Amino acid sequence: MPDLTLMTPAKIPPAACLIGWPAAHSRSPLIHHYWLRTLGIEGGYVIEAVPPDEFKGFLFRLSLRGFVGANVTIPHKERALALSKPDARARAVGAANTLWFENGELCSTNTDVEGFINNLDACADEWERCDEALVLGAGGASRAVLFGLLERGIKRVHLANRTVDRARALAAQFGARVSPVALSAVGELLPRAGLLVNTTSLGMKGKPPLEIDVAMLPSHAVVADLVYVPLDTPLLAASRAHGLKTADGLGMLLHQAVRGFELWFGRRPEVTTELRALVEADLTNT
Ligand code: ATR
Repeated sequence: MPDLTLMTPAKIPPAACLIGWPAAHSRSPLIHHYWLRTLGIEGGYVIEAVPPDEFKGFLFRLSLRGFVGANVTIPHKERALALSKPDARARAVGAANTLWFENGELCSTNTDVEGFINNLDACADEWERCDEALVLGAGGASRAVLFGLLERGIKRVHLANRTVDRARALAAQFGARVSPVALSAVGELLPRAGLLVNTTSLGMKGKPPLEIDVAMLPSHAVVADLVYVPLDTPLLAASRAHGLKTADGLGMLLHQAVRGFELWFGRRPEVTTELRALVEADLTNT
């Protein structure tokens, strides 16, 4: 009787990676290892430092290297979009952060959109009743926020940015529901804003704080900050002190990781309080 174990190729557990340059300290391995462990899935998630001139070659050999997919971070997100088959979200954001194979084809999406929206739903689902949102900042993160809000049917978004031309250019790509405004006009808009979102780097450790008087917001307003270092930004602390509901940047980071895990390992994981505590501790220790 032949030994069948010798004839069957060994089953290699699926693995994904985070591709970046330089290989920055990332919380993604912590998040995915937590889900692999708690769901009892045999699999892996590693960081791959890939310089820009080697990125294309790396992607072409992704599956040969044994990867079922990848996260992509700075500076590769735009190239990842161009070198894969992007979905509507990745196309609208102009950058891909999650890659996976479907029928042998390398597909991509941008999970910042659902990370932002799902975190908002989890923290304060009443945000959806608001007619007008005020979004601060006009960079890549702002694109994901705008796409998510419009996709969920918000009536109007005021887009404020220090460089107004950048807000104008971004608003033009999203149609009539997004109106560009100068940062100096924010004060007039606050009393009408049911949702305030900070996508700028203001309030981040080492940066100036965001000068916004949250007392001018309506009492039902929800405030979201994409900054997660520090976890509790001055904007979020002031908003809570005024009795407003808040959604923080760490929540978005955790929620944006869900889709990649589901695509690579076949199970949709939960953002639990235990996972949040684990990543919070890691953030505080570095
Ligand atoms: P990301 O892709 O992460 O959104 P980004 O493209 O660098 O990053 O955008 C950062 C945002 O923070 C921009 O909206 C930027 O405003 P400008 O477009 O005017 O540069 C905003 N920002 C950064 N520093 C700022 C400051 N000191 N005051 C006001 N806005 C600031």
